[in-house]
Amino acid sequence: MAAHRPVLLDEVLAGLSVKPDGRYCDATFGRGGHAAAILAALGPTGRVCAIDRDPDAVAAGRDRFAAEPRLTLVRGSFGGLATLVRAAGVDGELQGVLLDLGVSSPQLDEARRGFSFMQDGPLDMRMDNESGPSAAQWLSRAGEREIVDVLFRLGEEKFSRRIARAIVAARVEAPIATTGQLAAIVASAVPTREPGKHPATRTFQAIRIHVNRELEEVEAALPQAVSLLAPGGRLCVISFHSLEDRLVKRFMRREAQGDPVYAGLPDHTVPAHARPRLQLVGGAVMPTAAEVAANPRARSAVLRVAERLAA
Ligand SMILES: C[S@@+](CC[C@H](N)C(=O)[O-])C[C@H]1O[C@@H](n2cnc3c(N)ncnc32)[C@H](O)[C@@H]1O
Repeated sequence: MAAHRPVLLDEVLAGLSVKPDGRYCDATFGRGGHAAAILAALGPTGRVCAIDRDPDAVAAGRDRFAAEPRLTLVRGSFGGLATLVRAAGVDGELQGVLLDLGVSSPQLDEARRGFSFMQDGPLDMRMDNESGPSAAQWLSRAGEREIVDVLFRLGEEKFSRRIARAIVAARVEAPIATTGQLAAIVASAVPTREPGKHPATRTFQAIRIHVNRELEEVEAALPQAVSLLAPGGRLCVISFHSLEDRLVKRFMRREAQGDPVYAGLPDHTVPAHARPRLQLVGGAVMPTAAEVAANPRARSAVLRVAERLAA
């Protein structure tokens, strides 16, 4: 299988400003595209600690990097970033943390993972398919109101009420067990719109984000990432939808401003915990037209970079 070029690769390497002897954490290992490029920029004493919650990603990574002593790969959710980094044996500060959020190409492409309405498969959608309820289990139990809320909030789906009603009516007849069934239920509940976009796109996005607690995970990881960084260390985050990017943007801005309670007061009167911890490095970085042409999945990617300030 041809390896995919990782999204915004040059921009991530520039954002991380890789030091040959540095220690880096790739908290979203995937198939290791970014990790491999970071390793290539490191010297013999540099280290990468990589994390993924997907058992397939970790198994493939252990295979591919079996002969790479500078990489430690751990399975877990980056909501527990600090603990995972320590579990990987990294005890000092890091020079960079990368989060390339969302799902990987293999997760989307393999029908059995149940992320895609393009191919029929079991309605799973879990990145860690060995724990927590699958999309099918959640949909079998959730109340109509809860489904409306998830579709509206996480999918920005304006037909959330109609779709939730159709789901609840359908599951009385038979359990919704496959991606094909769910896609057909959504398609029959809403008028066709947004040319070129399947009517179930937003529903699948919303359920995926909910089942994987994606926003909660990012919210938990960001402050831990900052705490793990050495002064001058870089935080790079790639988001793929506006809810995620908004969260990252607000977090970085907040950390770059410090506690507003002390705004305008002389520096020496501001306690350490209230001082800014980050400095923004440039604005939002989007892929070039050439990258999007070569890899359409890069089209909605947004990279934000920030640097850890001295305490
Ligand atoms: C977009 S892919 C990363 C691709 C990777 N940068 C590469 O170059 O191959 C995102 C990966 O992050 C993982 N992931 C997403 N959320 C996670 C979380 N909360 N904890 C751990 N891994 C997560 C997914 O399982 C997926 O493999």
